[in-house]
Amino acid sequence: MSRHEAGSQAGSLLLRTIRSGTSGAEVFLLRQPGGATVATKVTRNPRVSSSVQAQRHAVMAKHFASHTPAVLGTATEAALDVIVTAAPAVWSLDEAIARVGPTPELYLIWQDVVNTLVTVWRSTAEPGFDPTRATRNHDLRCRRGHQGLEDVLTTDLGPPSRWLSIMINGSDMGSWFRAFEQLLVVGRPDSHITCHGDPHAGNVLVASDGTWHLIDWEWSGDHHDWRMMVSHLLGSWYVRDLLDHASGTASATPDRLVLDYAIGETPRLRQFGIPAADAFRRMTTPARTEQDLSDVARYVALLLLREIPRAVLAGRRHLIAPLLGECIRLTTGEHSNHPAIRLLKAPVGAAR
Ligand SMILES: Nc1ncnc2c1ncn2[C@@H]1O[C@H](COP(=O)(O)OP(=O)(O)OP(=O)(O)O)[C@@H](O)[C@H]1O
Ligand SMILES: [Mg+2]
Repeated sequence: MSRHEAGSQAGSLLLRTIRSGTSGAEVFLLRQPGGATVATKVTRNPRVSSSVQAQRHAVMAKHFASHTPAVLGTATEAALDVIVTAAPAVWSLDEAIARVGPTPELYLIWQDVVNTLVTVWRSTAEPGFDPTRATRNHDLRCRRGHQGLEDVLTTDLGPPSRWLSIMINGSDMGSWFRAFEQLLVVGRPDSHITCHGDPHAGNVLVASDGTWHLIDWEWSGDHHDWRMMVSHLLGSWYVRDLLDHASGTASATPDRLVLDYAIGETPRLRQFGIPAADAFRRMTTPARTEQDLSDVARYVALLLLREIPRAVLAGRRHLIAPLLGECIRLTTGEHSNHPAIRLLKAPVGAAR
């Protein structure tokens, strides 16, 4: 199936074309002659092939049957990888919030998504988390993040290995090497759990009847660290806030990186982060809370790091300083005072 054919199946009406910034995929929403709507996702050289995505979909369908649209077919031709799935809705929760605002109805849907995920975490938890068997490997993700930083910042700011002192709003936070070493180190949870591996509002479809559906099963699996999943449920809102409201400058001398920035408002985090905070408190134990907070902080830091190449490639250089600065603050011990981590500690409702 060629890219052109994927977008114009005979007799179908093309409702929407979505170009994803993250995987580089194109998704065609097609209303078929019989009335059903399908999503045809076409990716060049995907990190996870469509046949493996279909297997991971099966893991999700076992636990989230009514929330998992069916896979209708997969194909690989030349370097193009295609997966066709049922499309129970046209808009994601993220898009719905952008269109109509953060309504109470949309908040309740997000809360139900998180509660349903946590119920599955608790029912599938098994002792023996092994990072080498984890569906998402923290070490590998960090190294990709580091590579991305080198690729997009070296020309302007020198290679990260030369940042021996990083000044964040006037405070010396030490070298990038030290921060990166700390980012790599996370403790092990007591158990591994089954989860959708990329739970953010762009991967939740909302239908007009109020039902919700998980899509994008690339990283779904039964060997996840629940603290990493909390970092996605929480950090994805923080990332959105930073992209919308943060701004600053980044400059370099031969051995020093200077980041000056303001975070701005964090309305999404403060509202939509609440269910993630509830999830955290349901999963942690008093003896483990400090370690769990520190590990969630590092996982959130990694999400910020991974946003930097996208921001630079989109010409949004004012985001370099806040994304990198907050990544370092969350990693190097200042996390307990950080707005995202403070939310996890606050009693339910306190931050509303
Ligand atoms: N089955 C589907 N039904 C309706 N819309 C879909 C479906 N699958 C994908 N989409 C739309 O296409 C977008 C991108 O698809 P998907 O999330 O699978 O790709 P992605 O590139 O991996 O995204 P990301 O990595 O940013 O989460 C979704 O956010 C959604 O808007
Ligand atoms: Mg997605």
